[in-house]
Amino acid sequence: MNEQIVILDFGSQYTQVIARRIRECSVYSTILRFDTPAAEIAKLAPKGIILSGGPNSVYTPGAPLPDKAIFKLGVPVLGICYGVQVFAQFLGGKVERGQKREYGKGTLTVADPACALFAGLPESLQVWNSHGDKLTRLPKDFVVVGTTENSDYAAIEHPARKLFGIQFHPEVVHTPRGKEILANFVHQICGCGSNWTMRNYIEQSVEQIRAQVGSERVILGLSGGVDSSVAAALLHKAIGPQLTCIFVNNGLLRAREAEVVRDVFEKHFKIHLQYEEATRAFLKPLKGVTDPERKRKIIGKTFIDVFEKATKRAGKAKFLAQGTLYPDVIESVPIAGNPAHMIKSHHNVGGLPKRMKFALVEPLRCLFKDEVRQLGLELGLPKEIVYRQPFPGPGLAVRCLGEITAQKLDILRLADSIVVAEMKDAGLYYKTWQTFAVLLPVRSVGVQGDERTYDFTVAIRAVESQDGMTADWVRLPYDLLEKISTRITNEVRGINRVVLDLTSKPPGTIEWE
Ligand code: XMP
Repeated sequence: MNEQIVILDFGSQYTQVIARRIRECSVYSTILRFDTPAAEIAKLAPKGIILSGGPNSVYTPGAPLPDKAIFKLGVPVLGICYGVQVFAQFLGGKVERGQKREYGKGTLTVADPACALFAGLPESLQVWNSHGDKLTRLPKDFVVVGTTENSDYAAIEHPARKLFGIQFHPEVVHTPRGKEILANFVHQICGCGSNWTMRNYIEQSVEQIRAQVGSERVILGLSGGVDSSVAAALLHKAIGPQLTCIFVNNGLLRAREAEVVRDVFEKHFKIHLQYEEATRAFLKPLKGVTDPERKRKIIGKTFIDVFEKATKRAGKAKFLAQGTLYPDVIESVPIAGNPAHMIKSHHNVGGLPKRMKFALVEPLRCLFKDEVRQLGLELGLPKEIVYRQPFPGPGLAVRCLGEITAQKLDILRLADSIVVAEMKDAGLYYKTWQTFAVLLPVRSVGVQGDERTYDFTVAIRAVESQDGMTADWVRLPYDLLEKISTRITNEVRGINRVVLDLTSKPPGTIEWE
């Protein structure tokens, strides 16, 4: 078992960020519900426990509290924000609503430079706060190790029991040295080594996959996206010819997408790839359909039909592999006010029907996206795949507004390839979340040469985002926009006008449909 830190989630929007920061310190971390029994936690033999922040006040009735026995497990505990209040509640301190709420930047003055949490750090640190309640009496046997303008107990320690509490958030980027504080906790205080690396993960995972699968066959739906691609490469390393990847060309892919997948997986990795040419199966039922939701439904249903038939052709297999990631499996804490709880993905619903009886293999189940990319690089996947921008399941269908036809898709594909090529050339493609072209069902008058034209319009969409939930449009250089526009109108027959989308999300969405 990996050395690990257990993070108890009290409903903070930053819980996953804490887990990622710990893993960036090369230490494995697991997120558990706040009320996980201490006996369950003990089974994982954690080297330390972190109590996350949360939207509640400990003094309100029904506030989420951990099993008190976690303090008897004999491992160091770090309480962050709400986590400090938990100490106060159980170990005899006092929490009250602060007179001034402390939000945003603050300065921490380290009161005890010998405190291991601040080893190697200056005595004055920029920190980021987000709390209304504050500690007004120290819990028993705790000492103050840091103060802020607004709080005499901003950082506290129980030296004998290795319990630490900080009111600020070390996990966010606005606490610039926060990662070092977390590193001090896991390495110096909890005594963790630096064993969580993707190189080590490959070894462990290969063994686990072999143990799970034995001599059975595994089928994987390969979309060419980061997750399924990395899962394919990992599985191939583990079980070689027992893996069959099914790639469905739905006719809604971007330029060269299918070729890249074939080149990488078939030619380079020599993975058994079952290529399903299904353009007609998708475009036929989409004929004449303009409603975005109907388009999505038709595409979803057709995919299941095509995939199911493909699995039958692939022959008998016991397992289906999926590129499920850690954020999909963390049990979210149903605490009112927790934004993480309210965010529901409208995309990854549905899945495959129950009648398809496979056992699941999910080799990325405990990884965050940035770890999956790292793993992909370790496995030798090209940058083009590892840093591929998100691309929606329904593909170009949600970027080809109105009725979808093969001809409109060709126009869009070419325009999109120009946007992508110019963004890459300018060194901006991998720095933006998504950049693409959208074909509008609007025709307008133009003049090209001496001829009057009446052609379609393309919109350029370039957005910055952390997770796709919110986004801002990217201020691309005018010269680059000019180049893209000129190339599209010159090279793409059927387009005589290029516009730029200046809408953030909200109120817009990233895709146009
Ligand atoms: P929206 O358009 O809702 O998109 O702002 C947010 C993010 O999700 C992607 N997206 C999808 N991904 N299936 C997917 O797998 C879908 O149906 C789908 N629709 C949107 C979109 O590209 C963006 O990254």
